[in-house]
Amino acid sequence: MSIEEIFERYVESKIFKDREKLLPDYVPEELPHRDEQILKLASILAPALRGSRPSNVFIYGLTGTGKTAVTKYVLRKMKEKAPQTVEYAYINCRQNNTSYRVLAELAKHVGVKIPFTGLALGEVMKRLLQGLERRRYVLIVVLDEIDNLVKRQGDDVLYFLTRVNENLSSSKVSLIGITNDLKFTEFLDARVKSSLGEEELVFPPYSAAQLEDILRRRAKEALHEGVVDDEVLRRVAAIAARQNSDCRLALDILLKAADIADREGASRITLEHVEKARNEIEKNLAVDIIKTMPLHVKLVLASIYLLSRSDSARMITTGLIYDKYKELVGKVGIEPVTSRRVSDIINELDMTGIINAKVISLGRYGRTKVVSLGVPARNVEEGLMSDLILRSLIENMEE
Ligand SMILES: Nc1ncnc2c1ncn2[C@@H]1O[C@H](COP(=O)(O)OP(=O)(O)OP(=O)(O)O)[C@@H](O)[C@H]1O
Ligand SMILES: [Mg+2]
Repeated sequence: MSIEEIFERYVESKIFKDREKLLPDYVPEELPHRDEQILKLASILAPALRGSRPSNVFIYGLTGTGKTAVTKYVLRKMKEKAPQTVEYAYINCRQNNTSYRVLAELAKHVGVKIPFTGLALGEVMKRLLQGLERRRYVLIVVLDEIDNLVKRQGDDVLYFLTRVNENLSSSKVSLIGITNDLKFTEFLDARVKSSLGEEELVFPPYSAAQLEDILRRRAKEALHEGVVDDEVLRRVAAIAARQNSDCRLALDILLKAADIADREGASRITLEHVEKARNEIEKNLAVDIIKTMPLHVKLVLASIYLLSRSDSARMITTGLIYDKYKELVGKVGIEPVTSRRVSDIINELDMTGIINAKVISLGRYGRTKVVSLGVPARNVEEGLMSDLILRSLIENMEE
């Protein structure tokens, strides 16, 4: 390939019209199959257009169901409609996962500077209140991925924000809390819970057909005509539908397949490109999940990994896993957890898809659970090897 050809390919992609439109943070012009949620959220928030305080809203649904996209979309539309009256602050609580940082971000929105650290929380709240008092607007505060904040720091900020209107005369504050993890509400004070949930909005998962439709419209914005056909879109949608119907995953696979096709200089995306993209993404996912596992979970997984490597013909039962696990724990020199807990860990691993567990009948010997790896062994190894303890264990077993 000549240097001209290499550059030419970058200047003029045969695949992409506008690659940005497939990136995860881009909020598209239309969000198909979310009309109900869009209209409901819009009607809850509409009073802000006249300067009244809208009800607080609690939004939940599984990952990749469009919660963030829909919320940003509705707020953007409202802001276009009434740029003077409506103001919103979008805060991602995974990036800003302390009470201090959330409040400091909010203060920034109302024009109050808060030092990066150092003030007492009460002082930050006071300055934020003063800032709000100086303005006259309805501020809609979006706390996205709110579970991250509450699990780490409790509900002080939420308590403050749900009460803040009692201390304000000219401005008003409404809250939108978004999460894909309902369990965190256990950490909420009953009053906070009920006032955050004045209105509730549920985002159901997309069906495979809906995902396909969404992909088609996003592809139309991002890719040249004729680059993907229905068969390719259907395959991508089907893969994502099997994994909790996550729209983000569907878009990831499509983008990666498009990148691979682009790099190859192809003029269309084929099923092979999709397959490569999916393998790459699944590998990264599995490795990342394994890297962040707690030690005992890694040790259980390592037991399964070592058992599957030592004798591929043998059934890997829970009993064998527990024995292997105890052996590994002994080598590390720590106390084992109970066999009951190991069973729970096996179930958790099964849920992630990294292993497959199934119960089989042994006739008159009863039933037992057998386990196999759900992803290629080398990916499990890569994930485990990033942990120094596991690395030395596995390397020693190899001798
Ligand atoms: N109806 C839709 N039309 C087009 N794109 C969509 C639609 N729903 C979701 N998406 C896209 O899918 C991706 C995931 O959506 P989003 O970020 O809103 O999910 P989420 O529900 O907030 O997930 P999480 O709980 O993980 O934060 C985004 O890139 C978003 O633009
Ligand atoms: Mg989100």
